[in-house]
Amino acid sequence: MNHDSLMKTLEKNGLKPSKIALPRNEILAGDCIEIMKSLPARSVDLIFADPPYNLQLGGDLTRPDQSKVAGVDDAWDKFSSFASYDKFTKAWFLEARRLLKDDGAIWVIGSYHNVFRMGSQLQDLGFWILNDIVWRKTNPMPNFRGRRFTNAHETLIWAAKSENSKYRFNYDAMKALNEDLQMRSDWTIPLCTGAERLKKGDGNKAHPTQKPEALLHRVILSSTNIGDVILDPFFGTGTTGAVAKKLGRDFIGIEREKDYIAHAKERIATIKTGDEAMLKPIEKREEPRVPFGQVIEQGLLQPGAVLFDHSRRYSARVRADGNLVARNHTGDHKGSIHKVGAALQGLPSCNGWTFWHFETKGKVWPIDVLRQEIRSQIQPALPVPN
Ligand SMILES: C[S@@+](CC[C@H](N)C(=O)[O-])C[C@H]1O[C@@H](n2cnc3c(N)ncnc32)[C@H](O)[C@@H]1O
Repeated sequence: MNHDSLMKTLEKNGLKPSKIALPRNEILAGDCIEIMKSLPARSVDLIFADPPYNLQLGGDLTRPDQSKVAGVDDAWDKFSSFASYDKFTKAWFLEARRLLKDDGAIWVIGSYHNVFRMGSQLQDLGFWILNDIVWRKTNPMPNFRGRRFTNAHETLIWAAKSENSKYRFNYDAMKALNEDLQMRSDWTIPLCTGAERLKKGDGNKAHPTQKPEALLHRVILSSTNIGDVILDPFFGTGTTGAVAKKLGRDFIGIEREKDYIAHAKERIATIKTGDEAMLKPIEKREEPRVPFGQVIEQGLLQPGAVLFDHSRRYSARVRADGNLVARNHTGDHKGSIHKVGAALQGLPSCNGWTFWHFETKGKVWPIDVLRQEIRSQIQPALPVPN
């Protein structure tokens, strides 16, 4: 039974729309505010929304050769004033907030026309902004009139439902995606072109603002887990649904234009979900905490042993209680491996485990190897796959 027939049956039986169970992996046809009202509260993990931009375009835009630029001049992008756009934004934000689980989050994407208006409303309604991401387009449309800078980016706002939400962020997956460097807030991704761009029978674009799958890949991989439910209230041709399915997440799409729904359905039907083992984020093992004192207790270093940094510029002696003592031109220092390492270098902090070294049988080792030795006694090593 699809969502429409389910709704009719329930209403015939006198049940209120809010009793409807969460439909998963369906596209719901109609106005997003009305449909969101019919869905259960605190039921979705993430919302990705690419709402109307309210571009306020005046007249046709032409290239220097007089050909017409296919901009966004559709009825769905037209609002009579900023006030009516704000009223619409507030109405769907309120529903979005009701539908999000308490630890859920929302992504909205927009241009300078609407993103500031959305940002201030998100804050006013209690969402907690986590980042604004600049999507830098490698192939933006030129500014044909030459009256302004080329508009080469859009902005995404990522916000938790509230300041206290324990929102999901797959930090390690993002770092891996960026060749082991922390992922930054400026993303360079081309516009959706080529084979990915859906076309109508006449060869024209199926949708004026189809987003690139690469953008949604990063959004979904960074902030959801396998099996999470992602709601997109402005589904268009279903980019969110296509990427969600590929990555093993569930989606709910809402869209009011029948043509876009048809394209989205056809598109999503061709998508295959990846192998679950390949989709799961690799969680870093929670390693047991080892105080430096245990190294002494277990006799891996003796009280009085001398530690030094890798360049042998600084040195300290180990006390029986696991503290270090050292002296330099600023005075005497006593405390943890981290505290003394930081004090000698005049830095606010220091990772003593990697800073301090010891020598044995003519070889120099960081004291971290002693911590690893203790950890290996506490927990067995991970099995190595064949
Ligand atoms: C910017 S486009 C989204 C494009 C989509 N992200 C994609 O990649 O194809 C906004 C979409 O929202 C739809 N829309 C606008 N107002 C709506 C409303 N009140 N309810 C449902 N859909 C709406 C439009 O028809 C349009 O397809």
